Amino acid sequence: MGKVSVVIYISVALLVFWLVSHSPNKSLNRSYHHASRRLKLRSSYTFTGANDHRVAFDPIVADIERRREDKEWEKLQFHNRHPEFDSAPAAESQPEWEDFMNAEDYLNDEDRFNITGRLVLLFPKIDVDPEDGFVSESELTQWNLKQSEKEVLHRTQREMELHDKNKDGLISFSEYEAPSWVRNSDNTSFGYDMGWWKEEHFNASDADGDGLLNITEFNDFLHPADSKNPKLVQWLCKEEIRERDTDKDGKVNFNEFFHGLFDLVRNYNEEGYNSSHESSDLMEAPAKKLFSQLDKDGDGLLSEDELLSIIGKLHPSEHYYAKQQADYIISQADADKDGRLTLTEMIDNPYVFYSAIFNDDEDDYDDLHDEF
Ligand SMILES: *[C@@H]1O[C@H](CO)[C@@H](O)[C@H](O)[C@H]1NC(C)=O
Ligand SMILES: *[C@@H]1O[C@H](CO)[C@@H](O)[C@H](O)[C@H]1NC(C)=O
Ligand SMILES: *[C@@H]1O[C@H](CO)[C@@H](O)[C@H](O)[C@H]1NC(C)=O
Ligand SMILES: *[C@@H]1O[C@H](CO)[C@@H](O)[C@H](O)[C@H]1NC(C)=O
Ligand SMILES: *[C@@H]1O[C@H](CO)[C@@H](O)[C@H](O)[C@H]1NC(C)=O
Repeated sequence: MGKVSVVIYISVALLVFWLVSHSPNKSLNRSYHHASRRLKLRSSYTFTGANDHRVAFDPIVADIERRREDKEWEKLQFHNRHPEFDSAPAAESQPEWEDFMNAEDYLNDEDRFNITGRLVLLFPKIDVDPEDGFVSESELTQWNLKQSEKEVLHRTQREMELHDKNKDGLISFSEYEAPSWVRNSDNTSFGYDMGWWKEEHFNASDADGDGLLNITEFNDFLHPADSKNPKLVQWLCKEEIRERDTDKDGKVNFNEFFHGLFDLVRNYNEEGYNSSHESSDLMEAPAKKLFSQLDKDGDGLLSEDELLSIIGKLHPSEHYYAKQQADYIISQADADKDGRLTLTEMIDNPYVFYSAIFNDDEDDYDDLHDEF
């Protein structure tokens, strides 16, 4: 069979899959005509990077989304491994497909997914520190963080299965392959030099130095900003300098700092809410001040060690996003503005917790379908 027909077969299979996965199930749609609310799962699987930090508030929703994502992932890996396959099975003929669609069914059905009931059930699990009938910002942050850590670890596990060729539960450097965009590009391409997949990064992630990454170390490897491993944090500083160091002197001067790093620090301090940008002239003084505070040895340049104190702001951790999400939820649901949530406030504002999947205007259903 010629190359061209293989390409056509694969394209058709992908197209069919795309159509099936993107078209709302019309019969389902009709049968819920009387429901005043519709719950929608997120369904964008990009797998390109961990840039989406929204995490489902409800573990049940997270679990369903995770299973759907795993299915997408498996399909993607199958196609990556077998690009030569000329008869990729049509999506709807796969046995799991039924489950996959049922997952959406589940959340669309209000009788089976009772939001009020879920909030009543979850409230005491969040209100733990102290258990006082109020959900505070820090309790909600901890809750969000727990959900996102579960999510991150799950994705790491999936990556691990992919790379762990000899199935010993450990990743050696030779088992780890650079992402495909690296393998397919020549070494002059943009990004080639960013060492996120290089041996130096691997070694820094290998906390006990045994030449292999266990799941914890591999998770750190994939998410260095969340790592407590000092070698890895140091590597991150080095990497930051490599990226910013336009004059290639191995350190960051004021110009390199001002155009790039300073904005990140400022946005972090303002918690991302204030996106209004003042003119550069106004910002130069505070930037100079911060620069000289960081420049401990006063040589006018920032070294790796001198970046350590701000590296967490340059690469925000999951905790940062968990807190942002908590602040947002509280700002939306805290009716009496006392800075914390009661169960009643939560029940009165369910869309804040289930915003990604909650819709009470059925006419918008089709429009919303591709939004997430
Ligand atoms: C949803 O749960 C709440 C609290 O558990 C309960 O009062 C309510 O009757 C339930 N609604 C439905 C439709 O089952
Ligand atoms: C890039 O690749 C070419 C050959 O493909 C090689 O000669 C050159 O040394 C490489 N450069 C770097 C910086 O690795
Ligand atoms: C990584 O560590 C191994 C020993 O475990 C060593 O042989 C190798 O040279 C190190 N690579 C880099 C880039 O530091
Ligand atoms: C992985 O190894 C590190 C030491 O590098 C250790 O602290 C950690 O507990 C290990 N994780 C697991 C899941 O065994
Ligand atoms: C946002 O930035 C502007 C200009 O710097 C400042 O006047 C304002 O107070 C800031 N708002 C918040 C909420 O921080």
